[in-house]
Amino acid sequence: MQIDVFSLLPSAFPPYLELSIIKRAMENGLLTVNVHDIRAYTTDKHHVTDDAPYGGGGGMVMKPEPVFRAVEMILGAPPVCPVILMTPQGRVLDQATVQDLAKHPHIAVLCGRYEGVDERIRQHLVTDEISIGDYVLTGGELPALVLIDAVARLLPGALGDPDGALDDSHATGLLEYPHYTRPVEFRGWQVPEVLVSGNHAQIARWRRQQSLARTLGKRPDMLENAHLTQAERDLIEEMKSTMNDEEREE
Ligand code: ADE
Repeated sequence: MQIDVFSLLPSAFPPYLELSIIKRAMENGLLTVNVHDIRAYTTDKHHVTDDAPYGGGGGMVMKPEPVFRAVEMILGAPPVCPVILMTPQGRVLDQATVQDLAKHPHIAVLCGRYEGVDERIRQHLVTDEISIGDYVLTGGELPALVLIDAVARLLPGALGDPDGALDDSHATGLLEYPHYTRPVEFRGWQVPEVLVSGNHAQIARWRRQQSLARTLGKRPDMLENAHLTQAERDLIEEMKSTMNDEEREE
């Protein structure tokens, strides 16, 4: 997969991209990330990339010319791959979107800065707008890294364990079950017995139940769309009634 990033802050990317899983994916030829400095595509003497908004008001707006020039020189005009603008106005990134993006051989990611980008970039260059959550950052660089990280770990071969992403929180529509590692006792706290039993069927059942209980406790909204058996739905109803009992006791 190839990801072309367009940014006014290209130096933000290498420190993170050179870490563990992403680095390995790049070394193994699974992923190429090219970071392009939008400022290098200005044609004026002062390399201006932003300007005051028409109509007045505070803040600066990213000018259309260098952005169009950078994207079209790198990707062609019009670009054939998705061009994603990172913006708090986009649809909120979730695991289903990450899975979709990971299927594309090539995507481009445009990082907005300042107050925003000239609307013509949004209308005539960008094909998709993605936010990483309902809060505002100073620019799209961290959101772009979030997106790249989430996509990179899904590329076949990126994780050491080929099934590594299958049980992820959100991949199954449920939050992931609790994990434990050695030692079996730490400060008097024991690892649940079932996990050291060696009984794989019981372990799988325990994990599924834990996933359901966790999701019910922390993210009940996710249960609406999760693929559950009737027995699991019944179990959730049972858990809900005990939860209510406990609340009543308080
Ligand atoms: N740029 C600034 N804030 C952002 C956010 N929450 N998501 C994506 N891009 C952004």
